[in-house]
Amino acid sequence: MSRTVTGNLEDDCSKTAECSLDPTDKAGWEQLRTLGHKMVDQIFDHLQTRREQPVWQRIPTEKRTALEAEPLPRKGQGVESAYETFLRDVLPYGIGNTHPRFWGWVMGSGTPEGVLAEMLAAGMNPNVGGFDDSATLVEEQVIHWMAQLMGMPDGTSGLLTSGGTMANLIGLAVGRRARAGFDVRAEGMRGGPEMRVYCSTEVHSWLKKTVELMGMGRNSLHVVGVDAGYRMKVDELQKAIAVDRATGLRPICVVATAGTVNTGATDDLPAIADLCAKEEMWFHVDGAFGALASWSNRLRDGVKGLDRADSLAFDLHKWGYMPYDIGCVLVRDAETHKAAFATGASYLTAMERGPAAGGLRFADRGVELSRGFRALKAWMSLKALGADAITAVIEQNVDQAQYLASLINQSDELELAAEVPLNIVCFRFAKASDEGNQEILMRLQESGIAVPSGTVLQGRFAIRVAISNHRSRKADFDLLVENVIRIGHEVMKERSSASTR
Ligand SMILES: Cc1ncc(COP(=O)(O)O)c(C=O)c1O
Repeated sequence: MSRTVTGNLEDDCSKTAECSLDPTDKAGWEQLRTLGHKMVDQIFDHLQTRREQPVWQRIPTEKRTALEAEPLPRKGQGVESAYETFLRDVLPYGIGNTHPRFWGWVMGSGTPEGVLAEMLAAGMNPNVGGFDDSATLVEEQVIHWMAQLMGMPDGTSGLLTSGGTMANLIGLAVGRRARAGFDVRAEGMRGGPEMRVYCSTEVHSWLKKTVELMGMGRNSLHVVGVDAGYRMKVDELQKAIAVDRATGLRPICVVATAGTVNTGATDDLPAIADLCAKEEMWFHVDGAFGALASWSNRLRDGVKGLDRADSLAFDLHKWGYMPYDIGCVLVRDAETHKAAFATGASYLTAMERGPAAGGLRFADRGVELSRGFRALKAWMSLKALGADAITAVIEQNVDQAQYLASLINQSDELELAAEVPLNIVCFRFAKASDEGNQEILMRLQESGIAVPSGTVLQGRFAIRVAISNHRSRKADFDLLVENVIRIGHEVMKERSSASTR
């Protein structure tokens, strides 16, 4: 008996001594194939008509409960039924980052090619620990292309990761082992002088988590101030290093940022690279989204010095527009990279021939052993679209940020809250308080019109638009400004009538 798409697997298993999770006959495969085609049609319909749907909508209470409280399905209901629930209760209530007017936090919008690549990767299902197989070569190729696009030398090592946080963590772990001055892998933090890592006040929160996780503690961070453009003060950094050294601490690494999360500012990377070289410290650059500016001849100067990093972390799921999740860490010196993670476990020993020939190279470059084939979506996207097309959209996003800034500057009612060096625009409805601006943001999000996010700059709340979206058009920013002003007036009116009551 064949396993039907709507049927129950138990029938098969109860009738034979052995069973698998595959359909048992041709008809079962045919049904899966038909459903698969329907899924492809429907997900592309969803993307093609995304502009007509709300950017975001709150999950209705009954659906929320259904998603949270469903008992464990002991018996299968069939994939058709599960798919119907997905279409009804899951797909319409995503965060919204596939929509042309989603500009919250820093999220990429994904590509249709990426959707297909994800399906193929799951179908092939390799464990990309770094065996002697095609998936390993595909990932190596992507790493090589990334090094080339970032201006890093041939022979640069790297790893694709779940995102910027993991890529940064790996970079810092490599840097700590290389600059600790003792065998930190063997002795932990007790093996030598207390270490210090330097960053600016604008550094992303991954760093706090990472130093905590690495056993260094938050106090191992020396946080340096920023100038009016939110760039690390290099003179202050230099003094901090000297003072720490004089008190017996060991400065090991500067974490500079190319494209800060708040405003898109880039630290003075050449000056920090020089300082790290002089001080024999590790130079790590967090370029989660900003590093992608170096793909463009026009924008590269804005992130100058990035190619001097000892380690560089960035995401492809942000400004590379590839579907979640995919980040990347590049490490200039391949041996130093491996020395931070290789373990030499007996069951992972390199063989002379066979799939384990040469050892598990990716397992030796990071924390994870078993890894998915996330390289495929990058490899296919680059082959299908070409790096130039992706770069053109990156440049378009920067132009759109300038366009939005010009709309804000032309308006009497809005004000910019920071410079716009890259693809992030922070602004306020000038007459409204912080609470008023927060209310404007929440109404905008809840209306389904647009999803920016918020931040606090110099103690004041700002609406923040981060444009890493290949679907946005200039008219979307006109609509945003119109609606912020309309909602701003609404909020002000309500507040003034409430206060006179
Ligand atoms: C500058 C910066 N660094 C690191 C991260 C963390 O990256 P991920 O969310 O991919 O872990 C982000 C996320 O927005 C970021 O903007």
